[in-house]
Amino acid sequence: MIFLCRLSDLDNPGTKEAEVHVQDRPHNIFLVRKGDSVFAYLNICPHAGQPLNRMRNRFLNQAETHLLCSAHAASFEIETGLCTGGPCAGKSLTQLPLHQNGDAFYLTETD
Ligand code: FES
Repeated sequence: MIFLCRLSDLDNPGTKEAEVHVQDRPHNIFLVRKGDSVFAYLNICPHAGQPLNRMRNRFLNQAETHLLCSAHAASFEIETGLCTGGPCAGKSLTQLPLHQNGDAFYLTETD
């Protein structure tokens, strides 16, 4: 398992980028906190394969209710990664499995 963050490392709601190496391959991912839950996704938009963010660690819409791709404004549910608006509605971000131990979150290697 790969340590990612503690709950207190993220604003509520809040997001943060990370680069992790799984089986020697780098992956750009981001974490999003909502309440006491943290979710992790590959930073690849299902519309055109671009990273979601232009500004470091910024993935939420202005109302902080959804994840937002800055390229063509697709919006995604925080908890599921499902696109609910924009050019890839119905598709999903790739969610990564996390393991929680106390307030620490770890990536479960799945590659
Ligand atoms: S690449 Fe994300 S909406 Fe187009």
